[in-house]
Amino acid sequence: MHIDIITCLPRLIESPFSDSILKRAQAKGIVTVNVVDLRQYATTKHKTTDDYAFGGGAGMVMMIEPIDNRINHLKSQRVYDEIIYTSPDGEKLTQSLANQLSLKQNLIILCGHYKGVDERVREHLITREISIGDYVLSGGELAAAVIADAVIRLIPGVLSDETSALSDSFQDHLIAPPVYTRPAEYNGWKVPDVLLSGHQANIEEWRHNQSLERTQKRRPDLLK
Ligand code: ADE
Repeated sequence: MHIDIITCLPRLIESPFSDSILKRAQAKGIVTVNVVDLRQYATTKHKTTDDYAFGGGAGMVMMIEPIDNRINHLKSQRVYDEIIYTSPDGEKLTQSLANQLSLKQNLIILCGHYKGVDERVREHLITREISIGDYVLSGGELAAAVIADAVIRLIPGVLSDETSALSDSFQDHLIAPPVYTRPAEYNGWKVPDVLLSGHQANIEEWRHNQSLERTQKRRPDLLK
């Protein structure tokens, strides 16, 4: 998979890709993440990528020209499956959407900023708009990192244990069961006996029942 992330604040997005699973996924050659600094492609004298809103009102608007130039340049190098814009009014990111995106080859994620982008970007250049939740962030960079993380970890070979992503919360519309590690007893607080029994079938049954119980209690909406 190849992901281009277009942003006017590249430093905000670099660290999530420089550590742990996302770093290893790149080192293994499973994914390439390219952060595009929009300001470098600004066409104005002062290298600005935003301007005042027509009709007045507070907040700046990201201009169409540098975005269009960059997207066209990227499109001359690859065929993109989706050109995603991060926005609080987009389609909500779910595990199911992350699963769908993990099957794609080339993605662009455009990070919204200030008051957002000139509407013509959304009308003519973007294929999909994604929100990471009903709250407003200062910019789309953290949302882009969340989307990329949720997607990249699902690509086969990224997680060392292939079954690990399948047992994540939400994959079966269920929440993951509790997990424990050593010591088996701490402060008198014990790990459930069944997990120490070595009886794999019983362990699986216990985990499944715990998942069901937790989902009923915490997220009954998932069972509908
Ligand atoms: N930009 C600002 N808030 C956002 C959100 N909740 N999701 C995606 N992009 C955003």
